Amino acid sequence: MSEPVGESAAAGAVHVRAPGKINLVLKVGPVSEDGYHPLATVFQAVSLYEDVIATPAEEIEISVTGRQARQVPTDESNLAHRAAALLAEATGISRGVHLQITKNVPTAGGMGGGSADAAAALLACDLLWETGLAREELGHLAAELGADVPFALTGQTALGRGRGDELTPALARGRFHWVLALSEEGLSTPEVFAAWDALPAAGPEDVPAPLEVGEDVMQALVSGDPHRLAGVLVNDLAAAAEQLRPAVGTMLADAVDVGALAAVVSGSGPTVAALAPDHAAALEIAGALRAKQCADEVLVVTSPAPGARLVEPVRESS
Ligand code: C5P
Repeated sequence: MSEPVGESAAAGAVHVRAPGKINLVLKVGPVSEDGYHPLATVFQAVSLYEDVIATPAEEIEISVTGRQARQVPTDESNLAHRAAALLAEATGISRGVHLQITKNVPTAGGMGGGSADAAAALLACDLLWETGLAREELGHLAAELGADVPFALTGQTALGRGRGDELTPALARGRFHWVLALSEEGLSTPEVFAAWDALPAAGPEDVPAPLEVGEDVMQALVSGDPHRLAGVLVNDLAAAAEQLRPAVGTMLADAVDVGALAAVVSGSGPTVAALAPDHAAALEIAGALRAKQCADEVLVVTSPAPGARLVEPVRESS
């Protein structure tokens, strides 16, 4: 069978990389009839990436290596599998793909690792199958896959409204340095939202309206000053995550004890992101957190980071 070659990567493989994220601000409103909670959030992509290599195959197939790979399903429930199936259906393409996922972002960690896989799979299949969808069209498909998937496509810094999938790019200056405290065992996002619903002090009646990200947050981002950013970090889901996993509270307190400017739960947790004044301090904070053994793994990352992008087309030699 002859495949088009040349500029196309259709005959070979496509390598796409998509970032994990942290939520600098996450405000939650009372659950809607569709089971989702309205959010006002600020996403920032971090320098921790999922790699997806797409190669031609008869069916849609998934293999997974890397961090916590054994916890990730390889059947149709995998979000990358669903992404490929959705793109095929939406474009009327009847081709298969093998998606080789290398995980770096923690699984069920509140950092959008599965969403990054889905975003990377969408872009990789779009390139491999030459479906040529515009980014905007990929964004619509991404939103069907999950609330965090559109952000993994766009990366950088964005305000998220609605379920978190209605994005507006936000201006941010400079580079922020973070220490991530990871947990081997993840938390279920629906369970954390359900625990939030049941919290007496943060239940639906007590949520202040309107749900919005304040001007102080936008100014802190534009300033590029980590001290200012530290003053605005907030996550309404933190108490629920702590209730389900008390170690989250320990990680938050320990991070500040060892010199972080502030620490915040990412998404629905249990990952804790501790903000450092600079890179050298981040390395010191990471060392001190490792010594405290409060987290299963401690990483140093920076933000913001780019969204899903082609790393290199792997071409067959001619
Ligand atoms: O969209 P996604 O599949 O990532 O969401 C997983 C679950 O998290 C939803 O089924 C819902 O229970 C909860 N969720 C929510 N409100 C949001 C996003 C997610 O309640 N804005």
